[in-house]
Amino acid sequence: MEDKKANIIAASSVITLIIFIIVARVCLKLSSTFFLICGAGIAVIIAVFAWLLIRHHYNYRRKQMESQYKSEGRELRIEYSFLRKVAGVPTKFRYNELEEATDNFQALLGQGASAKVFKGILSDGTPVAVKRLDVEERGDREFRSEVSAIASLQHVNLVRLLGYCCVNPAGPRFLVYDFISNGSLDSWIFNRKVRPNPRGGCLSWDLRYRVAIDVAKALSYLHHDCRKRILHLDVKPENILLDENFRGIVADFGLSKLMGRDESNVMTTIRGTRGYLAPEWLLEHGISEKSDTYSYGMVLLEMIGGRRNVSFIEKGTHGKSHRKWQYFPKTVNEKMREGKLMEIVDQRLLDSGGIDERELKRLVHVAIWCIQERASLRPSMSHVVEMLEGGLVVEQPPDTQMTIVDFLTVDEEESQPQINGHHRPDIAAALAARQVDSNNENLSAAYSYANAMSAITPR
Ligand SMILES: Nc1ncnc2c1ncn2[C@@H]1O[C@H](COP(=O)(O)OP(=O)(O)OP(=O)(O)O)[C@@H](O)[C@H]1O
Ligand SMILES: [Mg+2]
Repeated sequence: MEDKKANIIAASSVITLIIFIIVARVCLKLSSTFFLICGAGIAVIIAVFAWLLIRHHYNYRRKQMESQYKSEGRELRIEYSFLRKVAGVPTKFRYNELEEATDNFQALLGQGASAKVFKGILSDGTPVAVKRLDVEERGDREFRSEVSAIASLQHVNLVRLLGYCCVNPAGPRFLVYDFISNGSLDSWIFNRKVRPNPRGGCLSWDLRYRVAIDVAKALSYLHHDCRKRILHLDVKPENILLDENFRGIVADFGLSKLMGRDESNVMTTIRGTRGYLAPEWLLEHGISEKSDTYSYGMVLLEMIGGRRNVSFIEKGTHGKSHRKWQYFPKTVNEKMREGKLMEIVDQRLLDSGGIDERELKRLVHVAIWCIQERASLRPSMSHVVEMLEGGLVVEQPPDTQMTIVDFLTVDEEESQPQINGHHRPDIAAALAARQVDSNNENLSAAYSYANAMSAITPR
């Protein structure tokens, strides 16, 4: 019974009893019946007061204990959530918490192949990036892979996964990350007229060099310092974020795969982004952490040149204009051998100055080592860190064939049967024939390539 209700009942019964006693006094005078009724009435009134007193005391004690439990519970919850954070256990968010945090998914930060990323602020004030994975064929696998892989990872150069949310088995799923304030590297190295992200500009040489080391450290941690070796498998500028101090933070382990330490060739389907994929993806040699090294080398070249590695150029012959692929790594390779490295540097960096030529040479050499077609020639990411930090001497890399160039530079108009702009059988045959590592797998390569191309994420 509520306090107010009990007080009203007690007061009305006391008043009734008093009225009853007064009426008895008037009607019965000072007879013995009146004294009997008066005694009983006063006893009941005393009992009512006693009941009120006991009840008040009991309620007071209960409230005291409740507030004590509440504060203990709150402390426990805080301690528990602190321990979860320290241990890297992601929080399971409710959908309406995310709706509130993102103001009903208003501020879109970016959109990739299979997800949209929104900015949000949690109830405790933490800024977050909420990644909504829409349900599709590969969504479920991607989600579980991301959550389990990232949960335990703690490195200053890796984006932290704070939690996740599943609406229902068929509904969208969400990943909640730390918000990284300066967005992704592509907005800071490519000279674009229209920028998808308002944050961006031209990153200075010093910062580019430092970001290169940051990313190498993050990948080295994933490859060598985790209990389970982790491959990123989608290293590209869009998946490298820059924090408020322009330190590089590697994001997106959606394509990563946990591998046992003694396994190396386990992937069966192609994942990743065209332009950053190592040749072994196409040839079923089995991918390894060296495939990340390859993509990393590609990103280094893009950071140096301030341009995409693969681009189209318009060419006009006999009054007809047609488009042709241009492959930047091939130019870098040539300029490196001619000793004209400054010619490949981002023009904006040349204009603003501050390029350290020794660092430039080191960075180019490391990049070309990383994109060697033979995976075994590529350095490990821990070696890359040492080389970039100056702890290891970087030799001039050997000439790499860059087989992939041959299919990229195929004139679009030359031969007819094309699929998605590529001559798949020709390309596969060319790749298979040129690959020095594989002697037995060339035949299957031609077939696998056709399947492979359809699974690569276009940029
Ligand atoms: N934690 C974050 N903090 C700030 N911005 C982020 C964060 N995560 C992602 N973004 C932004 O959202 C964009 C889209 O990310 P998303 O991973 O969905 O796509 P993507 O990296 O371009 O492609 P892919 O789907 O192949 O990874 C990123 O390019 C980046 O600009
Ligand atoms: Mg991404």
